[in-house]
Amino acid sequence: MADQHAQSGEDKRPTGIPVLRWEEPPEGPVLVLLDQTRLPAEEVELVCTDAPVLVEAIRSLAVRGAPVLGIAGAYGVALAAARGFDVDDAATALAGARPTAVNLSVGVRRAQAAYHTALAAGGGAEEAAGAALAAARQLHREDAEASARMAGHGLALLDELLPGGGHRVLTHCNTGALVSGGEGTAFAVALAAHRQGRLRRLWVDETRPLLQGARLTAYEAARNDMAYTLLTDNAAGSLFAAGEVDAVLIGADRIAADGSVANKVGSYPLAVLARYHHVPFIVVAPVTTVDADTPDGAAIEVEQRPGFEVTEVTAPQVPVAGAGGGIPVAPLGTQAYNPAFDVTPPELVTAIVTEEGVVSPVTGEALAELCARSRQV
Ligand code: MRU
Repeated sequence: MADQHAQSGEDKRPTGIPVLRWEEPPEGPVLVLLDQTRLPAEEVELVCTDAPVLVEAIRSLAVRGAPVLGIAGAYGVALAAARGFDVDDAATALAGARPTAVNLSVGVRRAQAAYHTALAAGGGAEEAAGAALAAARQLHREDAEASARMAGHGLALLDELLPGGGHRVLTHCNTGALVSGGEGTAFAVALAAHRQGRLRRLWVDETRPLLQGARLTAYEAARNDMAYTLLTDNAAGSLFAAGEVDAVLIGADRIAADGSVANKVGSYPLAVLARYHHVPFIVVAPVTTVDADTPDGAAIEVEQRPGFEVTEVTAPQVPVAGAGGGIPVAPLGTQAYNPAFDVTPPELVTAIVTEEGVVSPVTGEALAELCARSRQV
């Protein structure tokens, strides 16, 4: 069945994607982002000269995905410091730009703390700005390392759960190099399987309404020459029913202390489908995504996005017209329900894969133990 749906696989560019970088031209330091709202049509860079520009880039999803939001937030603090803006104001604005992915505030607070520690130690503003930048760079490096370790743990788990190889994996949203200092979270596991010749097919949910699956995951899969097939989100049920899915691999924006997982809206229905069809539902995320201060799923703030993202098609390839900048696909004035994320309860999650190891079964106690272990390292 799968082969008749295969992509042409024509995009064979190098797999590394420069998702963000710090530069210091004579006019002053900048954070350069690959504008993800324009992919896959164009690879356009967005230059952030101060924190408000970065806040807008985060809100518009020019930069998105939990781990890289943390990295971008940390660089944003460094940018404010290096350009002499109020660091605490910038940190507050950056941390609040999107509410669900906890990595964003973790990254911001880390650079902010480094800045204040340097000041308190008697360093001047320049030295403190250097400390914030060093913290951002360190987080960037750590995320790349975490990504590689998650890929290793995740592939070992897949091989254990699905002996015989030839994995057919369904994924949702986008979790590859575009969201990471390395090769990503869930996508990095699929990529590791592909490199070992053990990925038979990557099923890519298109991920309405902003099409992160179609625009971004398919882009990354093509660049890596993976066997992938795109499906509409509502086709997932029939794919499970046809016995074509061996495992679901997704990322996370926040994991509550009890193991509840907030991720892109549409993840929870996949968990329900996976349970019904006895298919493992695996979450891959760095330890920084686990938020001990959020006790359970009900306490996770789910971002609500503007209705026009649902009532209009805003994909970058489409010429613009409607009130939100896209082509209307519903009568004018139609109200839309548009949560950016949903929450999957821990009992539907087979395993959480982190850089420190795998939690399965998913319980608050096991997660707390893993986080304590990671703090000791
Ligand atoms: O709204 P987005 O595109 O930022 O949502 C991203 C996701 O939901 C990802 O699955 C999540 O951040 C995990 S990325 C490793």
